[in-house]
Amino acid sequence: MKKILFSALIISIFSCKSTTEEPIPNEYLNLPANPFDYSSTNLPSNLLAELKIRDNTPSDNQISNHTATLGRVLFYDKNLSINNTISCASCHKQTLSFSDTTQFSQGFEGKLTSKHTMRLINIRFFEQKTMFWDNRAASLEHQATQPISNSIEMGLSLKSAIAKISKLPYYPTLFKNAFGNETIDSIRITKALAQFVRSIVTTNSKYDLVKAGKDKYTASEARGDSLFFNIPVQNGIFCNNCHTAPAFFPVNNVISRNSKLNAQFKTVESELGNFKFGTLRNTGNMLRFLHDGSYRTLDDLFSGDVLFHSIPAKQDRQDLINFIKTLDDPSLATEVKFSNPFKK
Ligand code: HEC
Ligand code: HEC
Repeated sequence: MKKILFSALIISIFSCKSTTEEPIPNEYLNLPANPFDYSSTNLPSNLLAELKIRDNTPSDNQISNHTATLGRVLFYDKNLSINNTISCASCHKQTLSFSDTTQFSQGFEGKLTSKHTMRLINIRFFEQKTMFWDNRAASLEHQATQPISNSIEMGLSLKSAIAKISKLPYYPTLFKNAFGNETIDSIRITKALAQFVRSIVTTNSKYDLVKAGKDKYTASEARGDSLFFNIPVQNGIFCNNCHTAPAFFPVNNVISRNSKLNAQFKTVESELGNFKFGTLRNTGNMLRFLHDGSYRTLDDLFSGDVLFHSIPAKQDRQDLINFIKTLDDPSLATEVKFSNPFKK
């Protein structure tokens, strides 16, 4: 009996030791003693139901609080650029749903990107093979480290990035807490960045509250809702066919169920170009619209002649815009767990 107790004690000491987290060096970073919660989503019920069908989280990269914390630090670390001037967050700004103020963004040498910086919102819901404006990357895991080695954005080969961050005092502990030991490699960097970005979801929008019967639209928002779902913008196609509720990005299989729509949709694609139909959630505070950032406000966009986006009547535009704004989750702009963790 004693022997059994003794070995139980040893086992518990060992297992306790192996899960003990190391304190994060706080000279450089403002991180809480216990990591923030990134793994539970806290989504409203309509989005939670949608997530059950569409979650693109790979089975080998489920979100853990420690790994997403590492991803947060990497996301804000300018050491990931060749001359220590640019981090992911230099272009993807938290206050703007992780997009940028300008039409194009400056990389490490001041050169400009060829497209507008995308918002990083609700990426968990996107179908595979739809990353970037031209859908060229298959998943967040395929995409996450590409900006580091991009010749305009951060200019650092992945190999040099690993060598560089291995010398920084805060990473060994962060990698150990995330992955069990201090090894730093590109797979781990990718996983951590992808986890952080994937954890950014909208949880607190008026639209969801209204649908759950916990809030009420204004008259203008209610009219905008009905325009969005019921007024054909062209040839029997509605806004909702392409930006489909509740995630507000296209669900291809829904469109292809209707062969007439599908045929028209193909024409649209060839005319609009093969650009990603971003989610309309959290577009309300953006300063630039479309892949080329060519429109400054929603009213400009809907007053223009972009195929399917031309709304001639002023009142209709205003009501649609007020409706689109109900899709915003303003709390994302200030949530500490998504903010810059560096002290300077
Ligand atoms: C110099 C500005 C800049 C930097 C730095 C930058 N990005 Fe981007 N990001 C962009 C632009 C521009 C796009 C759109 C590119 C395109 O489609 O060709 C983009 C697209 C993305 C997308 C695709 C989103 C979607 O919906 O398909 C993700 C994810 C992303 N960036 C994450 C990151 C991460 C992680 C980092 C840091 C490792 C980073 N970015 C660094 C400008 C930047
Ligand atoms: C046939 C498909 C289709 C229809 C219908 C459609 N959209 Fe779009 N929408 C797109 C595509 C594709 C883009 C991205 C185009 C680009 O970046 O050049 C887009 C972009 C947008 C954007 C800008 C998003 C951003 O990140 O810059 C808004 C806002 C928008 N649409 C709202 C609407 C509204 C409101 C309606 C109905 C009046 C509508 N859309 C109808 C396909 C569609």
